[in-house]
Amino acid sequence: MKSNPTADQMNRGEFIRSLGMSSAALMAFYCMGTTLSSCSSKGSDDPTPSTTPLPSTGITGNAEVSKGAINFTLSLADANFSKLKTAGQYVLVGNLIVARTAAGQYVALSKTCTHEGTDVQYRSAQNDFFCSNHGSEFSTTGAVEVGPASRPLTQYKTALSADGNSLTVTA
Ligand code: FES
Repeated sequence: MKSNPTADQMNRGEFIRSLGMSSAALMAFYCMGTTLSSCSSKGSDDPTPSTTPLPSTGITGNAEVSKGAINFTLSLADANFSKLKTAGQYVLVGNLIVARTAAGQYVALSKTCTHEGTDVQYRSAQNDFFCSNHGSEFSTTGAVEVGPASRPLTQYKTALSADGNSLTVTA
């Protein structure tokens, strides 16, 4: 016996509508039951910057994005930052990582991995910035070289004083 095509179409339409309602209901449940970032259009690639406490000496100015434009100076004569006179070394300052690359250049980037917010570290052997949490790698300009991070680290400008004892970092 041949089935009624009109009834089939109605059944299919009802079936599709019921699927749509189920998907919407599932998504609503998912969004309510998980963290807000899971449902954000930016996904997890927009973590809140973490902040490394500043030492009491060797830095003047602002190193935290929440307090306005980044603009600070490190004294490389101070014990807190003197390691930056050595190629391949780095320090975490406020929301930033400041490194002296293997080639001797100064680089300042956001230290917060754009995947889920772990502090990155400078690796002199690879001359890159590495997140040990899930393995993201960034170039010395902050560009993503290896995911899962999909957005670059913010890059800041660096300027070394003529005597080599002060490093100024600006947005
Ligand atoms: S938090 Fe850095 S790779 Fe996931």
